[in-house]
Amino acid sequence: MRRLLVAGNWKMNASKVMLNELLSGIAENAPQQTDVVVFPPAPYLLAAADKLQGSSVKFGGQNLNANDSGAYTGEVSASMLVDCGCEAVLVGHSERRTLFAESDADVLAKTEAALAAGLVPYVCIGETLAERDANKTEAVVEQQINAVLNGLTVQQLAKCVFAYEPVWAIGTGKTASPEQAQQVHAFIRGLIATKDEELALNSHILYGGSVKASNAKELFGQKDIDGGLVGGASLKAEEFLGICNPA
Ligand code: PGA
Repeated sequence: MRRLLVAGNWKMNASKVMLNELLSGIAENAPQQTDVVVFPPAPYLLAAADKLQGSSVKFGGQNLNANDSGAYTGEVSASMLVDCGCEAVLVGHSERRTLFAESDADVLAKTEAALAAGLVPYVCIGETLAERDANKTEAVVEQQINAVLNGLTVQQLAKCVFAYEPVWAIGTGKTASPEQAQQVHAFIRGLIATKDEELALNSHILYGGSVKASNAKELFGQKDIDGGLVGGASLKAEEFLGICNPA
């Protein structure tokens, strides 16, 4: 049985005041039946660790460098994230792929580095609108996920979380319909099954792209959607909690 998992990607949005208010609200009211994870920007991770001490809410980094240390100005390594108390890290978010030219090979290297440090990598994949319109959704998603499926062992993959985020639905208010999302999620689970059936059954595949409290229930009710990776709606405690508790 896959438990509902809801993750909040704050992107480049935070302040000390916001972190205090938001994490208090989430930590005090997170529903027991849902696994909740937040991804604040790197400078706030130690403050998040402090704030979430003793809470069931976990936190992680939004990015990492595949190297462990050294002359990489501005970068953050997996072991630093672990040292700050992180349990997870986002890898291959479409904004990283598009704005920072991250390739499938980068995504694999980062995923390996995260796993080696004991972090749960949230591997993000998804097609652009042009790719969907050209009927390339499955081809794009397959190529992106195969980069990790072919590069990792079943044991390593069992520690990953996958997130399907159609780029056209991110931050646009245009959510994929539950049927559209379910179709791609089922396709992704099928690809994981070609590696290992048990792995496919146990893998969490989150949906991301304009998830809100008002559409979470229907999306998460789909057979192959195990929760959400939430951007904009994760910045307001009440809205985010509504997604975490969509009953
Ligand atoms: P959104 O972002 O919920 O604001 O669409 C999702 C994401 O980018 O992870």
